[in-house]
Amino acid sequence: MDRTFAILLLLAVLTCFVAPKVPTVTFTNGVKAPAIAFGTGTFWHKKESDKNINRTLVEAIKTAIHEGYYHIDTGDDYFTEKEVGIAIKESEVPREKLFITTKLDKFLSDPRKGLETSLKNLQLDYVDMYLIHSPFFNKTTHGIEIEQVWKIMESQYNQNLTRVIGVSNFRIKDIIRVLKIAKVHPEVNQLEFHPYVQSTDLQAFAKENKIFLQAYSPLAPIVYKKDGPVNESLQRIAENHKTTQAQVLLAWTEAKYNMVITTSGKKHHMKEALDSYDLRLSKSETNEIDSEGSKLLYREFWKDQFKNWP
Ligand SMILES: NC(=O)c1ccc[n+]([C@@H]2O[C@H](COP(=O)([O-])OP(=O)(O)OC[C@H]3O[C@@H](n4cnc5c(N)ncnc54)[C@H](OP(=O)(O)O)[C@@H]3O)[C@@H](O)[C@H]2O)c1
Ligand SMILES: *[C@@H]1O[C@H](CO)[C@@H](O)[C@H](O)[C@H]1NC(C)=O
Ligand SMILES: *[C@@H]1O[C@H](CO)[C@@H](O)[C@H](O)[C@H]1NC(C)=O
Ligand SMILES: *[C@@H]1O[C@H](CO)[C@@H](O)[C@H](O)[C@H]1NC(C)=O
Ligand SMILES: *[C@@H]1O[C@H](CO)[C@@H](O)[C@H](O)[C@H]1NC(C)=O
Repeated sequence: MDRTFAILLLLAVLTCFVAPKVPTVTFTNGVKAPAIAFGTGTFWHKKESDKNINRTLVEAIKTAIHEGYYHIDTGDDYFTEKEVGIAIKESEVPREKLFITTKLDKFLSDPRKGLETSLKNLQLDYVDMYLIHSPFFNKTTHGIEIEQVWKIMESQYNQNLTRVIGVSNFRIKDIIRVLKIAKVHPEVNQLEFHPYVQSTDLQAFAKENKIFLQAYSPLAPIVYKKDGPVNESLQRIAENHKTTQAQVLLAWTEAKYNMVITTSGKKHHMKEALDSYDLRLSKSETNEIDSEGSKLLYREFWKDQFKNWP
């Protein structure tokens, strides 16, 4: 009896020890979310016509969950919501332990149908977070304006279909439109953030207005724009810490933004990301990445819209 108890206690202590220490953020409405999310867009993105389930993605999500990613990011135009739903079921992790985000884009002109369809694809009764994928639409292009979409999302929030509502790819002027009419606070703005898109003005604005910033494509300097000005700094800082450039980028991002989304098809990369919270960069290393990064403005996503949309 005593020995069994001792073994169980030891196991419990060991489990605590090996489980990744992913921080949690708490939104203004009290809802909590794991700070790091596993993405199912970008290279996982499917064609709408592809009705087959991508088992490679299902297995990757299950691996991610088992390694410690309890926050999964998808969108109604990634066509990966069904894979997320299957992975949740097969993971056997209780639904309420997971934080599931999806985004409104394909169904912008009919947000009610949008969330209803997403929930059906995900096999869920509610999502944890529902975001407007971008501000680049209006009455002419989609028959609806940002304010009208927000009001419908507020009613979905009040019906408990989503625990948090927010936005993505919103500029300061777009967020102001929401704040002017909001009865439910926009908790999150999900944006491309890395050394080549630092958006310091948005960082200050978000802090002032208690909006959490969620960084996507944190690895851009080693994935999308490899020969940019932070290259050498990254190499040296990673060597000094005996770690990888990916971990340096993640640690830099995590110290600046409240939340981060990354993705991988490889278990060792997933582990690297989850362990990145153990890495602390010095002030001078952070400053060096800031200043080298700000020598180049490079965006991988929504380039034309950020350039041309009024
Ligand atoms: N709201 C929006 O408009 C928007 C736009 C873009 C993305 N997102 C979301 O953000 C998610 C992530 O975006 P992203 O894919 O651009 O992010 P990312 O994490 O910067 O890049 C992922 C790429 O990095 C590689 N990688 C991952 N870990 C690595 C490591 N330790 N070392 C070297 N390479 C590594 C992955 O390939 P391997 O398989 O080889 O690891 C993958 O090709 C998307 O899936 C989506 O959910 C949202
Ligand atoms: C699943 O997704 C991966 C990553 O995009 C891709 O390489 C693979 O071909 C896909 N599998 C199927 C069966 O479509
Ligand atoms: C909507 O956006 C398009 C593209 O930017 C623009 O041409 C059009 O004038 C806008 N319409 C309204 C009603 O704002
Ligand atoms: C939503 O959930 C809250 C808290 O559990 C509950 O008080 C409220 O009645 C629910 N609203 C609806 C419309 O189900
Ligand atoms: C980074 O810069 C070094 C030195 O300037 C160069 O040799 C290397 O090829 C670059 N690496 C990448 C991935 O661009």
